[in-house]
Amino acid sequence: MSKLISFHDYKPETLSLHDAVVEGLSKDRKSIPPKFFYDERGSQLFDEICQQPEYYPPTVEQKMLVDNATEIASLAGQGRILIEPGAGNATKVRLLLDALRPAAYIPMDISFDYLKSAAVALADEYPWLQVHATCVDFTHSLPIPDAVPDGPRLLFFPGSSIGNFDLNEAQEFLAMCRKAVRNDGMLLIGVDTKKSESRLNAAYNDKAGITARFNINLLHRMRDELGIECNPAHFAHEAFYNSSAGRIEMHLVSKQKQTLRLNGYRFNLDPGESLHTENSYKYTPIEFLQLASMSRFKEVRHWLDKDGLFAIYLFSAD
Ligand code: AVJ
Repeated sequence: MSKLISFHDYKPETLSLHDAVVEGLSKDRKSIPPKFFYDERGSQLFDEICQQPEYYPPTVEQKMLVDNATEIASLAGQGRILIEPGAGNATKVRLLLDALRPAAYIPMDISFDYLKSAAVALADEYPWLQVHATCVDFTHSLPIPDAVPDGPRLLFFPGSSIGNFDLNEAQEFLAMCRKAVRNDGMLLIGVDTKKSESRLNAAYNDKAGITARFNINLLHRMRDELGIECNPAHFAHEAFYNSSAGRIEMHLVSKQKQTLRLNGYRFNLDPGESLHTENSYKYTPIEFLQLASMSRFKEVRHWLDKDGLFAIYLFSAD
């Protein structure tokens, strides 16, 4: 194992699926937070979504990162401390490492096991790279371990992950990023754009039905992990663009009247009533620049692909 790798465990508290289901299904409009999609099966299905022709963000963003890596590096400068909240398997950062030559890389993830294997593989592939794998819930805090060398920071947040936050949460998250990178820091962030509804709707309703399986996997988790007797066949995947809210919404719609029982709880569902499982906000460049400016980020540059499907923004803190 590389000598340049260290592990930092902030022991993030993870809300259990049980508590999230009790809380979310007790509400007037029933919902379950999207982070519960990502058990092992769900993470596999998400990787498969990323290979569907209709789901353009990963392919478009990757090409943009490759095409613009040199320019990004010349604007940001080499030798920064590169921080990536929710790094997962650290696929996208590989497209930038040779150009950016960071002084250290800090992948953050809530799952220690996942983080560990990703960090070890990365450190093996990039023997010159200092890796400080940090296990933390990045939606709550962005701690930089003491072992990380001092230097100007660059926070990398690709994949339009920011789309899962509502507007207030997104602004709060950006403000937290602004604090974490300090006055000489920068932010490089990938954000899905507003575009034709048919294109957006197709991206979340792929023909192969993978997004539907990803959504319905939540019901399998509720059945297998919590013992809720629910038949996934009694629900339908629904995903649509809500244009007034500027977001894709995903729901699990009950096809019939049914009751979900969990310990002493009973959750009644009417036909057509849904469990709201995800929001994915889309931003025009004007909207996103405005949002970022509210968190004191200043635009250095932004890039759109030729069809305007996806945007990458580089901000400075000052
Ligand atoms: C990982 C949140 C960026 O919102 O597009 C993909 C998740 N859900 N298809 C997105 C997702 C259904 C994805 N993010």
